[in-house]
Amino acid sequence: MRILSLIIGYAVLYLVGAYTPTDSPHGKDFKISCSTCHSSKGWALDKEIYSFDHASTKMPLTGQHKDINCRLCHASLVFAEAKAKTECVQCHEDVHSNTVGKFCDKCHTSQSWLVNNITEIHQQSRFPLVGVHTIAECQQCHKSESLLRYDVQGVECIDCHRENYLATSNPRHEGIFSTDCSECHNIYSYEWGGSGFNHNFFPLTLGHSNLQCSQCHTNNNFTSLSTDCYSCHKDDYEATTNPPHNSGCYSTDCKICHTTNPGWGTVIQHESYFPISSGNHAGIACNQCHTNPANCTYDCLGCHNNQANITNQHGDVGGFTYTSTACFNCHPRGVGGD
Ligand code: HEC
Ligand code: HEC
Ligand code: HEC
Ligand code: HEC
Ligand code: HEC
Ligand code: HEC
Ligand code: HEC
Ligand code: HEC
Ligand code: HEC
Ligand code: HEC
Ligand code: HEC
Ligand code: HEC
Ligand code: HEC
Repeated sequence: MRILSLIIGYAVLYLVGAYTPTDSPHGKDFKISCSTCHSSKGWALDKEIYSFDHASTKMPLTGQHKDINCRLCHASLVFAEAKAKTECVQCHEDVHSNTVGKFCDKCHTSQSWLVNNITEIHQQSRFPLVGVHTIAECQQCHKSESLLRYDVQGVECIDCHRENYLATSNPRHEGIFSTDCSECHNIYSYEWGGSGFNHNFFPLTLGHSNLQCSQCHTNNNFTSLSTDCYSCHKDDYEATTNPPHNSGCYSTDCKICHTTNPGWGTVIQHESYFPISSGNHAGIACNQCHTNPANCTYDCLGCHNNQANITNQHGDVGGFTYTSTACFNCHPRGVGGD
């Protein structure tokens, strides 16, 4: 009995001696109770009683990490050695050869390496894929030897379209046009010419649509054209008779009164001169005030012609005279007392 208990005693001592926390495979400073992970079944991890909360570390186990063997991350079994190894790139090879940076979790999760939202990822980058570029093959832009490298020549149009640029002949671009193709070309278009070309720097609207380029770009001049209406429409201005514009009254800044609407109908912003679309003077014809079509003068007295009565109304108004300019100066909006 004594011997037996001695043997048992040694056996226990042996076990405890061999596996004290100090020289357990988990290292000297390991504090977690053995029974959190082991049972009498042996030193393999006993999944039935395992109760360590891995989420209490800085590396919660998600996705496929949940199911893999502890030793794949903790090869030495000294768990603490994995401390601060929480970035994907610290454990996984960068198959992209540093062409997308080291923050793998921008595109991947621990669930899978497949990426099914590449379009959205692309929209966040400096080069959103729009228009014709959405149908191009990845490799047309990412021309690396490896399909997993995503380097590019650049993000500016010219970086990828230099050859197209240099090859142009109609019109020839080289050295003349900007290399920022988007100034003139529409990235949403599937071609360079036709609707793929935009003229937004000088919109070709109304009377300017459907013209030949050469009607404005005479002598193939694409570079030094003025956008000032008068530069192209001087002759039209000089030729006006109704009303004659060169009387000194009409500005040569046609935009004040005209759009490109064919026929030169007016959109004259007359309200800033004198209200004629509302108030007392709404609907009065131009020539009722501008009685002399040859100049800018206006006449108020044709209608406000009861001089005695009007003078009477201004009895206590200092500086009153009975002239049109005086009426206008004191009544610039055509209402009393303003
Ligand atoms: C947080 C869980 C956990 C705790 C706590 C823990 N172990 Fe382990 N232990 C493991 C895992 C996981 C293995 C590897 C098992 C496997 O590979 O099947 C292991 C393996 C071992 C082995 C076998 C070593 C080998 O080379 O196969 C021994 C011995 C061991 N542990 C002793 C201890 C002792 C002693 C304690 C308490 C001081 C302890 N363990 C606490 C998880 C733990
Ligand atoms: C995908 C990799 C990965 C897997 C799988 C994994 N771990 Fe960890 N584990 C880590 C990392 C990384 C840390 C360190 C986290 C930190 O810095 O807080 C860690 C920390 C620990 C710690 C705390 C160490 C300390 O001293 O703070 C323990 C204990 C641990 N793991 C046990 C396990 C056990 C048991 C398993 C298997 C059931 C396991 N781990 C599976 C990556 C992993
Ligand atoms: C502490 C090391 C470690 C860290 C950190 C880590 N992993 Fe893992 N991961 C592993 C190990 C080990 C495996 C299993 C072996 C393998 O498949 O490479 C694994 C497996 C995977 C798998 C499954 C592999 C497959 O072939 O299906 C994916 C996906 C994955 N990890 C993604 C990530 C992502 C994303 C991150 C960062 C958010 C990350 N991992 C961080 C160690 C780590
Ligand atoms: C900007 C996004 C992005 C980032 C960041 C990124 N990847 Fe990827 N990764 C991808 C895309 C896209 C694929 C192709 C996936 C597909 O075909 O579904 C891919 C595929 C993979 C694959 C699978 C390779 C194969 O053979 O199919 C692995 C492994 C991988 N990436 C690891 C990483 C690692 C490790 C990091 C961090 C160093 C990382 N990735 C960073 C976008 C990214
Ligand atoms: C028309 C050209 C073009 C096409 C087609 C294209 N890409 Fe890109 N891609 C780029 C450019 C340019 C960048 C660089 C963006 C940046 O640096 O911000 C880029 C960046 C990336 C990145 C890195 C994004 C990041 O945030 O770091 C990934 C990943 C990528 N592309 C994957 C793909 C995949 C996969 C496809 C095919 C489905 C594809 N690309 C198609 C031009 C293209
Ligand atoms: C990273 C490379 C890359 C960049 C940057 C790039 N493109 Fe592209 N682009 C392509 C590829 C690849 C195609 C499809 C193949 C082709 O037609 O050359 C394409 C096609 C086009 C097309 C259609 C041409 C046709 O005849 O099929 C237009 C238009 C176009 N791009 C305009 C632009 C504009 C404008 C920019 C700048 C805002 C730009 N691209 C920037 C790679 C790029
Ligand atoms: C200042 C305006 C302007 C800029 C900037 C510009 N283009 Fe053009 N491009 C034109 C015009 C105008 C046409 C003729 C459109 C038509 O015929 O409908 C044209 C036509 C083209 C054509 C077809 C004609 C041919 O001769 O092959 C290509 C290709 C082209 N451009 C490429 C480019 C590229 C690439 C860039 C940028 C690197 C660029 N363009 C920048 C104005 C411009
Ligand atoms: C109604 C007159 C008019 C018509 C028609 C016209 N343009 Fe222009 N275009 C202009 C003016 C004005 C400018 C100068 C714009 C500026 O400098 O802001 C200009 C500039 C340009 C430029 C040079 C832009 C630059 O940044 O240097 C190109 C290229 C051009 N036009 C191409 C065309 C083409 C191609 C057509 C025929 C499809 C056309 N234009 C029809 C008036 C016209
Ligand atoms: C202050 C306003 C104003 C300005 C500025 C102005 N116009 Fe007019 N224009 C008119 C009015 C009012 C008419 C008569 C409209 C009507 O009958 O509907 C007119 C009519 C015309 C007509 C047709 C009448 C005719 O006799 O042929 C032409 C052409 C014309 N304008 C050209 C120009 C040009 C070119 C410019 C700039 C260089 C210009 N206009 C600047 C107000 C203006
Ligand atoms: C680069 C030259 C150019 C410039 C700048 C220009 N135009 Fe024109 N415009 C033309 C040409 C060419 C026509 C067609 C021939 C014609 O009717 O005179 C035209 C036609 C018109 C028409 C139609 C005339 C009709 O008979 O129906 C109007 C209206 C017009 N332009 C207004 C303007 C206004 C307003 C501006 C300034 C915002 C302007 N244009 C600037 C060249 C130009
Ligand atoms: C009720 C009187 C009245 C009517 C009606 C009227 N105007 Fe005027 N108009 C004025 C007054 C007042 C001014 C401001 C003169 C000043 O500021 O010296 C003016 C200014 C103008 C000017 C600017 C002259 C300049 O010196 O720059 C033009 C052009 C003009 N009118 C055209 C018209 C046209 C075209 C119509 C018809 C659509 C019209 N007016 C109808 C009273 C009138
Ligand atoms: C075509 C006729 C006509 C012309 C021209 C005319 N007016 Fe009038 N005006 C009227 C009528 C009608 C009224 C409203 C009845 C009234 O008070 O006499 C009116 C009212 C007024 C009033 C009084 C508004 C009020 O609040 O009681 C003032 C001030 C006035 N006009 C100023 C002017 C000035 C300044 C001019 C010249 C630039 C002018 N009018 C040209 C017809 C005209
Ligand atoms: C020196 C400034 C001045 C001049 C010039 C002037 N007015 Fe007046 N007018 C006024 C003032 C101030 C009142 C308001 C008087 C009052 O309510 O006692 C007024 C009132 C009026 C009224 C009456 C409005 C009402 O509410 O009953 C009319 C109509 C009028 N003016 C028209 C004219 C006409 C037409 C002329 C040009 C012949 C003219 N005014 C010149 C300052 C002037």
